[in-house]
Amino acid sequence: MLSRGKFIVLEGLDGSGKTTQLQLLHERMQQHCKQRKCFATREPSESFPGLLCRGISRRSIQVENETIAMLFAADRYEHVVGELLPQLEQGNHILCDRYYFSNFAYQMLSTDLESLLAYNKKAMDLLHPDVTIYVDVSPEECAARRSTSRTSEELYEKVDTAKKIYRNYMTAFDALQQSERVVTINGNRDAQTVADSIWKFLTEQVFDKDDLI
Ligand code: TMP
Repeated sequence: MLSRGKFIVLEGLDGSGKTTQLQLLHERMQQHCKQRKCFATREPSESFPGLLCRGISRRSIQVENETIAMLFAADRYEHVVGELLPQLEQGNHILCDRYYFSNFAYQMLSTDLESLLAYNKKAMDLLHPDVTIYVDVSPEECAARRSTSRTSEELYEKVDTAKKIYRNYMTAFDALQQSERVVTINGNRDAQTVADSIWKFLTEQVFDKDDLI
Protein backbone atom coordinates (compact mmCIF):
# COMPACT_ATOMS: atom_id res chain seq x y z
CA MET A 1 0.00 0.00 0.00
CA LEU A 2 1.27 3.46 -0.96
CA SER A 3 1.88 6.11 1.69
CA ARG A 4 -0.02 9.37 1.39
CA GLY A 5 0.91 11.50 -1.63
CA LYS A 6 2.51 14.93 -1.46
CA PHE A 7 0.44 18.10 -1.70
CA ILE A 8 2.47 20.83 -3.40
CA VAL A 9 1.07 24.32 -3.89
CA LEU A 10 2.30 27.03 -6.25
CA GLU A 11 1.57 30.63 -5.39
CA GLY A 12 2.41 33.94 -7.02
CA LEU A 13 1.06 37.13 -8.47
CA ASP A 14 -0.99 37.04 -11.69
CA GLY A 15 1.67 37.05 -14.42
CA SER A 16 4.36 35.37 -12.28
CA GLY A 17 4.47 32.30 -14.53
CA LYS A 18 3.34 29.89 -11.79
CA THR A 19 0.83 28.15 -14.09
CA THR A 20 3.60 27.38 -16.62
CA GLN A 21 5.74 26.11 -13.76
CA LEU A 22 2.94 23.89 -12.55
CA GLN A 23 2.62 22.33 -16.02
CA LEU A 24 6.37 21.74 -16.29
CA LEU A 25 6.48 20.19 -12.83
CA HIS A 26 3.47 18.03 -13.62
CA GLU A 27 5.18 16.66 -16.74
CA ARG A 28 8.38 15.97 -14.83
CA MET A 29 6.58 14.15 -12.02
CA GLN A 30 4.56 12.05 -14.45
CA GLN A 31 7.79 10.97 -16.15
CA HIS A 32 9.23 9.82 -12.82
CA CYS A 33 6.20 8.21 -11.20
CA LYS A 34 5.06 4.85 -12.51
CA GLN A 35 3.11 3.58 -9.49
CA ARG A 36 1.81 6.87 -8.17
CA LYS A 37 -0.40 9.18 -10.17
CA CYS A 38 0.21 12.89 -10.15
CA PHE A 39 -2.69 15.32 -10.57
CA ALA A 40 -2.62 19.01 -11.37
CA THR A 41 -5.48 21.13 -10.10
CA ARG A 42 -6.22 24.76 -9.28
CA GLU A 43 -8.30 27.11 -7.19
CA PRO A 44 -10.89 28.34 -7.68
CA SER A 45 -11.78 24.72 -8.40
CA GLU A 46 -14.63 23.26 -10.43
CA SER A 47 -16.97 23.11 -7.41
CA PHE A 48 -20.20 25.11 -7.37
CA PRO A 49 -18.77 27.87 -5.14
CA GLY A 50 -15.66 27.75 -7.34
CA LEU A 51 -17.74 28.55 -10.42
CA LEU A 52 -19.22 31.52 -8.59
CA CYS A 53 -15.68 32.68 -7.73
CA ARG A 54 -14.75 32.57 -11.42
CA GLY A 55 -17.84 34.64 -12.27
CA ILE A 56 -16.78 37.16 -9.65
CA SER A 57 -13.22 37.32 -11.06
CA ARG A 58 -14.70 38.03 -14.52
CA ARG A 59 -16.93 40.67 -12.86
CA SER A 60 -20.14 39.10 -14.15
CA ILE A 61 -21.37 38.67 -10.55
CA GLN A 62 -21.30 41.45 -7.98
CA VAL A 63 -21.36 40.70 -4.25
CA GLU A 64 -19.84 42.14 -1.07
CA ASN A 65 -16.09 41.71 -0.56
CA GLU A 66 -16.70 39.69 2.59
CA THR A 67 -18.93 37.32 0.61
CA ILE A 68 -16.18 36.91 -1.99
CA ALA A 69 -13.70 35.94 0.72
CA MET A 70 -16.12 33.38 2.16
CA LEU A 71 -16.93 31.95 -1.29
CA PHE A 72 -13.26 31.34 -2.07
CA ALA A 73 -12.93 29.62 1.32
CA ALA A 74 -16.11 27.58 0.68
CA ASP A 75 -14.69 26.46 -2.67
CA ARG A 76 -11.49 25.43 -0.89
CA TYR A 77 -13.41 23.31 1.61
CA GLU A 78 -15.28 21.56 -1.22
CA HIS A 79 -12.01 20.98 -3.05
CA VAL A 80 -10.24 19.56 0.03
CA VAL A 81 -13.02 17.21 1.09
CA GLY A 82 -14.29 16.14 -2.32
CA GLU A 83 -11.06 15.87 -4.28
CA LEU A 84 -7.74 16.59 -2.59
CA LEU A 85 -7.91 14.38 0.51
CA PRO A 86 -9.34 11.30 -1.30
CA GLN A 87 -6.58 11.52 -3.96
CA LEU A 88 -3.80 12.00 -1.41
CA GLU A 89 -5.07 9.09 0.70
CA GLN A 90 -4.81 6.84 -2.36
CA GLY A 91 -1.12 7.74 -2.62
CA ASN A 92 -1.46 10.18 -5.51
CA HIS A 93 0.50 13.43 -5.58
CA ILE A 94 -1.27 16.72 -6.15
CA LEU A 95 0.05 19.97 -7.58
CA CYS A 96 -2.27 22.86 -6.88
CA ASP A 97 -2.28 26.27 -8.56
CA ARG A 98 -3.21 28.53 -5.58
CA TYR A 99 -4.53 27.56 -2.15
CA TYR A 100 -5.27 29.47 1.06
CA PHE A 101 -2.35 31.90 0.75
CA SER A 102 -4.10 33.32 -2.34
CA ASN A 103 -7.14 34.01 -0.19
CA PHE A 104 -4.96 35.83 2.35
CA ALA A 105 -3.01 37.83 -0.27
CA TYR A 106 -5.92 38.84 -2.51
CA GLN A 107 -8.74 39.19 0.00
CA MET A 108 -6.55 41.14 2.44
CA LEU A 109 -7.03 43.96 -0.06
CA SER A 110 -10.41 44.41 1.63
CA THR A 111 -10.57 42.12 4.68
CA ASP A 112 -8.36 41.47 7.72
CA LEU A 113 -6.20 38.38 8.07
CA GLU A 114 -7.93 37.27 11.27
CA SER A 115 -11.29 36.95 9.51
CA LEU A 116 -9.68 35.14 6.57
CA LEU A 117 -8.03 32.65 8.91
CA ALA A 118 -11.44 32.00 10.44
CA TYR A 119 -13.07 31.44 7.01
CA ASN A 120 -10.30 29.02 6.05
CA LYS A 121 -10.09 27.22 9.39
CA LYS A 122 -11.90 24.05 8.30
CA ALA A 123 -9.70 23.59 5.24
CA MET A 124 -6.57 24.45 7.23
CA ASP A 125 -7.46 21.91 9.92
CA LEU A 126 -7.84 19.23 7.28
CA LEU A 127 -4.99 19.88 4.87
CA HIS A 128 -1.74 21.83 4.95
CA PRO A 129 0.50 21.76 1.87
CA ASP A 130 3.70 19.74 2.24
CA VAL A 131 5.24 22.86 0.77
CA THR A 132 4.04 26.13 -0.74
CA ILE A 133 6.32 27.39 -3.51
CA TYR A 134 6.11 31.13 -4.07
CA VAL A 135 7.20 32.05 -7.61
CA ASP A 136 8.73 35.43 -6.98
CA VAL A 137 8.49 37.98 -9.79
CA SER A 138 8.34 41.71 -9.05
CA PRO A 139 4.89 43.37 -9.07
CA GLU A 140 6.13 45.75 -11.81
CA GLU A 141 7.18 42.87 -14.06
CA CYS A 142 3.95 40.90 -13.43
CA ALA A 143 1.78 43.92 -14.20
CA ALA A 144 3.74 44.66 -17.37
CA ARG A 145 3.47 41.03 -18.54
CA ARG A 146 -0.31 41.09 -18.05
CA SER A 147 -1.00 44.51 -19.40
CA THR A 148 -2.70 44.52 -22.78
CA SER A 149 -3.71 48.17 -22.75
CA ARG A 150 -0.57 50.03 -21.87
CA THR A 151 -1.81 53.47 -20.97
CA SER A 152 0.39 54.63 -18.12
CA GLU A 153 -2.60 55.18 -15.84
CA GLU A 154 -3.90 51.60 -16.21
CA LEU A 155 -0.43 50.18 -15.82
CA TYR A 156 0.10 52.26 -12.68
CA GLU A 157 -3.16 50.92 -11.21
CA LYS A 158 -2.16 47.34 -11.99
CA VAL A 159 1.30 47.82 -10.47
CA ASP A 160 -0.20 49.45 -7.39
CA THR A 161 -2.61 46.55 -6.80
CA ALA A 162 0.08 43.95 -7.50
CA LYS A 163 2.36 45.65 -4.94
CA LYS A 164 -0.36 45.46 -2.30
CA ILE A 165 -1.00 41.78 -3.05
CA TYR A 166 2.74 41.12 -2.87
CA ARG A 167 2.91 42.80 0.55
CA ASN A 168 -0.10 40.78 1.70
CA TYR A 169 1.63 37.55 0.66
CA MET A 170 4.68 38.56 2.71
CA THR A 171 2.50 39.48 5.73
CA ALA A 172 0.72 36.13 5.56
CA PHE A 173 3.96 34.14 5.14
CA ASP A 174 5.38 35.96 8.13
CA ALA A 175 2.29 35.47 10.30
CA LEU A 176 2.15 31.72 9.57
CA GLN A 177 5.85 30.90 9.52
CA GLN A 178 5.55 28.53 12.53
CA SER A 179 2.99 26.27 10.91
CA GLU A 180 3.61 26.58 7.15
CA ARG A 181 6.50 25.51 4.96
CA VAL A 182 6.96 28.21 2.33
CA VAL A 183 9.87 28.47 -0.08
CA THR A 184 10.51 31.37 -2.44
CA ILE A 185 11.88 30.64 -5.91
CA ASN A 186 13.28 33.43 -8.09
CA GLY A 187 10.89 33.58 -11.05
CA ASN A 188 12.79 36.28 -12.96
CA ARG A 189 14.61 33.71 -15.11
CA ASP A 190 13.69 31.69 -18.16
CA ALA A 191 10.97 29.12 -17.51
CA GLN A 192 13.26 26.09 -17.80
CA THR A 193 15.78 27.46 -15.30
CA VAL A 194 12.99 28.21 -12.81
CA ALA A 195 11.60 24.70 -13.35
CA ASP A 196 15.05 23.17 -12.70
CA SER A 197 15.35 25.10 -9.40
CA ILE A 198 11.94 23.94 -8.25
CA TRP A 199 12.78 20.35 -9.16
CA LYS A 200 16.15 20.49 -7.36
CA PHE A 201 14.51 21.83 -4.22
CA LEU A 202 11.74 19.21 -4.25
CA THR A 203 14.01 16.24 -4.87
CA GLU A 204 16.54 17.38 -2.24
CA GLN A 205 14.19 18.59 0.47
CA VAL A 206 10.60 17.48 0.03
CA PHE A 207 10.27 14.09 -1.68
CA ASP A 208 10.86 10.96 0.34
CA LYS A 209 12.60 7.92 -1.10
CA ASP A 210 9.37 6.26 -2.23
CA ASP A 211 7.64 9.38 -3.56
CA LEU A 212 9.00 9.11 -7.11
CA ILE A 213 8.02 5.52 -7.78
P1 TMP B 1 -5.98 32.37 -11.65
O1 TMP B 1 -5.98 33.51 -12.61
O2 TMP B 1 -4.63 32.04 -11.08
O3 TMP B 1 -6.76 31.17 -12.15
O4 TMP B 1 -6.79 32.87 -10.32
C1 TMP B 1 -8.00 33.49 -10.44
C2 TMP B 1 -8.02 34.78 -9.67
O5 TMP B 1 -8.67 34.55 -8.42
C3 TMP B 1 -6.66 35.40 -9.37
O6 TMP B 1 -6.69 36.78 -9.72
C4 TMP B 1 -6.52 35.27 -7.89
C5 TMP B 1 -7.93 35.19 -7.40
N1 TMP B 1 -8.09 34.42 -6.15
C6 TMP B 1 -8.55 35.10 -5.02
O7 TMP B 1 -8.78 36.30 -5.06
N2 TMP B 1 -8.71 34.37 -3.86
C7 TMP B 1 -8.48 33.03 -3.77
O8 TMP B 1 -8.66 32.42 -2.70
C8 TMP B 1 -8.02 32.35 -4.97
C9 TMP B 1 -7.77 30.88 -4.93
C10 TMP B 1 -7.85 33.09 -6.13
